[in-house]
Amino acid sequence: MDAFPYIPDTKALPRLRSAAADCRGCDLYRDAEQTVFGAGPKTASAMFVGEQPGDQEDRAGAPFVGPAGHLLDRALGDVGLDRDEVYLTNAVKHFKFVPAERGKRRIHKKPSRGEMLACRPWLLAELNAVRPELVVLLGATAAQSLLGTSFKVTKERGKLIEIPEGVVGRPIAALATVHPSSVLRAPDRDTAYDEFVADLRLAAKELSR
Ligand code: URA
Repeated sequence: MDAFPYIPDTKALPRLRSAAADCRGCDLYRDAEQTVFGAGPKTASAMFVGEQPGDQEDRAGAPFVGPAGHLLDRALGDVGLDRDEVYLTNAVKHFKFVPAERGKRRIHKKPSRGEMLACRPWLLAELNAVRPELVVLLGATAAQSLLGTSFKVTKERGKLIEIPEGVVGRPIAALATVHPSSVLRAPDRDTAYDEFVADLRLAAKELSR
């Protein structure tokens, strides 16, 4: 079971987005509020890929609108990139969570490898539609979705790498870094933020070439 049968043969983002709303390619649609498809211009030269929508994204139906998104916005601004000019999406398009023991809170749960692979056809469809010059992979789930499960962000972060031709029919420049949520959780948040920004600076430099 995966998303492939739900994907229309089109490069039109609005058609892809409306088809994704009805995706049943894995079970995550059952508990989530809605599919959170990518957002941003089709002409974007950079695509940023996160893990999966969080609680606020699931309610809003848009990627990176919660705390991790605010941190990403700030970091983008610090390297001279404009959120409205990049395409933001996630490796998995539904929020996976467990209910908190008490109260109504929903606690993020990392998607399984099977859920990541099931959703991968949507990410490939977005890559085909947007054709970015550079893909910024935010964290292990995004990186492993496109580069394989042996890819280690800790080892490869902040380097220019390539998504091989076999993935979407042409090689694409990429850069992996940590997920903005890991910066929020870091014991030394200022250092983690500076390192994240240093990685994004390299992405910005590559885009301005
Ligand atoms: N974390 C992600 O990976 N993506 C979002 O959209 C929000 C939080």
